[in-house]
Amino acid sequence: MGSGSAVPPRIVTNDELSKTVDTTDEWIAQRTGIRERRVTAPDETSSTLGAEAAKKALAAAGVEGATIDLVICATTSPDYPWPSVACLIQDAVGATTAGAFDLSAACAGFTYALSVGGAMISAGNATRVLVVGADTLTKQVDWTDRGTCILFGDGAGAVVLEGKEDSERGLIDSVLFADGSGTKHLLIEGGGGRYPKGQSYSEGIRDTIYMAGREVYRFGVNAMPDACEKLLARTGLTSADIDLFVPHQANVRIIDSAAERLGIPKDKVFVNLERYGNTSGASIPLALDEAVQQGRLKPGMLVMTVGFGGGLAWGANLIRW
Ligand code: ACO
Repeated sequence: MGSGSAVPPRIVTNDELSKTVDTTDEWIAQRTGIRERRVTAPDETSSTLGAEAAKKALAAAGVEGATIDLVICATTSPDYPWPSVACLIQDAVGATTAGAFDLSAACAGFTYALSVGGAMISAGNATRVLVVGADTLTKQVDWTDRGTCILFGDGAGAVVLEGKEDSERGLIDSVLFADGSGTKHLLIEGGGGRYPKGQSYSEGIRDTIYMAGREVYRFGVNAMPDACEKLLARTGLTSADIDLFVPHQANVRIIDSAAERLGIPKDKVFVNLERYGNTSGASIPLALDEAVQQGRLKPGMLVMTVGFGGGLAWGANLIRW
């Protein structure tokens, strides 16, 4: 198990945003907990950040890219409509004998990707899997929409999963859920097959992020603890067994409410959204890697992650780190 992360150097504070849209640092911090976010330059993409995070994860795990069997990248902001970001990362890290594909589950992407990576190992189809979460949603945001542009930031995180007979470490179990009837609450409507890019859209079709904030908030507040409760019930563990809770970093109020319902004390909840905002598929692996860097996540600890977002999709993982 090794982790790595990467963020672009450019910091955009709430104060800077308040110069271009009608908002304040106080409003954003109170409603979301976010103080600043990282924003990519034109030549920085999900694959450049993902590759940087992946190289650090490989170095931390002490393994070469050429020994990786599979690269999975959770992203909804690929460099190109196709091929996948995972193929670009596979090339960048020299994973010359690996398969590679992207997984699309928005902010729940990393929980899904970790689950698939672990299952591939359990099924005997892979021994070492590089699981990356990389997103650059600031490229998909309407910078004049104060309801959404304040929320998102760019970043990437990666972990190396390895199947070892004699080790307790690794993914223990996951739960995954989806409710496609909620598509309308959180989506980019234009630019796909329904409203192809370059064709004239009917009035109101946008190729930037649309979010019904209150509906998504209500969904997140229930989905996060619900997924965790179902995961704990499946494994026979309780929240008291959790050493570190690493939830998707969307809104500190949603995180606080989930942790309270689960009975997880604040000192076991990892939060870094004040510095990065919502980095979508990158938020959980970025948080995991920061927790490692800060000495809060050590080998042998029991970690629970939980993600939710566009789809609607949500899920949770239990990991023996
Ligand atoms: N600055 C100042 N005022 C604002 C801003 C802003 N940036 N944005 C909205 N407002 C105003 C609204 O216009 C509204 O004003 P009104 O009462 O005069 O109409 C008022 O503030 C309240 O607006 P709400 O949208 O009801 O504010 P809310 O308290 O719901 O907070 C927020 C908005 C922060 C977006 C919240 O709804 C939220 O966090 N939702 C969940 C987002 C999330 O978790 N997304 C995760 C998934 S993302 C993915 O999958 C890609």
